[in-house]
Amino acid sequence: MGKKRVWLDCDPGHDDAMAIILAAYGNPDIPSINRFREYGDSRGIDLIGVSTVCGNQTVEKTTDNALRMLNLIDRNDVPVYRGADKPLTRPKRNCPEIHGESGLDGPDIPAATRGAQPTPAVVAMAEALLSGDPADKPTLVATGALTNVALLFSVYPEVIHRLDELVIMGGAYQGLGNTGPTSEFNIQCDPEAAHIVFEAGLKSLVMVPLEVTHTVLVTPEIRNKYFKGSRFRILLDELMHFFEESYKKVFGFDHPPLHDPVAVFYVMLPAMFKTKRMRVDIDCGQLCAGTTVCDHYGMSGKEPNVTVCTKVDVDTFWKTMAETVAEADKVSPINSK
Ligand code: BDR
Ligand code: CA
Repeated sequence: MGKKRVWLDCDPGHDDAMAIILAAYGNPDIPSINRFREYGDSRGIDLIGVSTVCGNQTVEKTTDNALRMLNLIDRNDVPVYRGADKPLTRPKRNCPEIHGESGLDGPDIPAATRGAQPTPAVVAMAEALLSGDPADKPTLVATGALTNVALLFSVYPEVIHRLDELVIMGGAYQGLGNTGPTSEFNIQCDPEAAHIVFEAGLKSLVMVPLEVTHTVLVTPEIRNKYFKGSRFRILLDELMHFFEESYKKVFGFDHPPLHDPVAVFYVMLPAMFKTKRMRVDIDCGQLCAGTTVCDHYGMSGKEPNVTVCTKVDVDTFWKTMAETVAEADKVSPINSK
């Protein structure tokens, strides 16, 4: 049991920022991974690259946010590539009502000390995912709109069979959306891209939907336990505070759900999830555009194409998230300012 090579495609975003921490410090030595080693199904992460996409904010802003976050946690060794600046066919949309004008509103996050790599994201993803020992298949995690992934699969279809798994945060399996009545933001941003990805014939496509991420709430108890003390932890608390206020205003939630790290957590400890294989089609129409139409009872007669997560062990998620926050806290340059 070693490290899993993981590429993270994201649109930071408050919860994407936490997903970056989990992916960057989810190494095999953290206690959670060790604790579950006996089950033979716990995996540390080797974060090989980060790409960004237009979603929570413009791609210029999500790229800067990814660079700022990696700098904040002393992982400037992870290359960052800028991806698509708009969905495949639909007009651009962002989500300032949840993530603010910068995409990471709340605290002052120190400026990045480097820029993104010059190579376009899709080219860099193909190079990284197709390289290395063919027996050591990499995993792709996507926590934003699926535009980059759809372009990757269209231009480099050989990547599809080279992947061990694609794990996405997105969709809903019981009909209730968030930014659309029945659609979830990441899929709603670019339904055509999601359609390409869901139809690609992947060996393993795992969907972590809203019903699961809505159980992973950033409660006052969590904030008091993990986000107090150092400057780094206080900065995370300020991020979570902004996120909480947004969720109160827009959705009437008392506490915000930390969607994106849950997809990274699946890569590390899949045994902590309940899942169901089912057929999932993407509505690319107008009224319900971006809805993940999940065939619970197999009525369509179509082959299942997605492993849908239906439950996560929230306690173990938080323990693991907290361990990676503690690792990042030890090295964050903001603590010595
Ligand atoms: C998803 O939408 C974004 O706002 C979040 O970052 C998350 O990826 C939740 O619907
Ligand atoms: Ca996201």
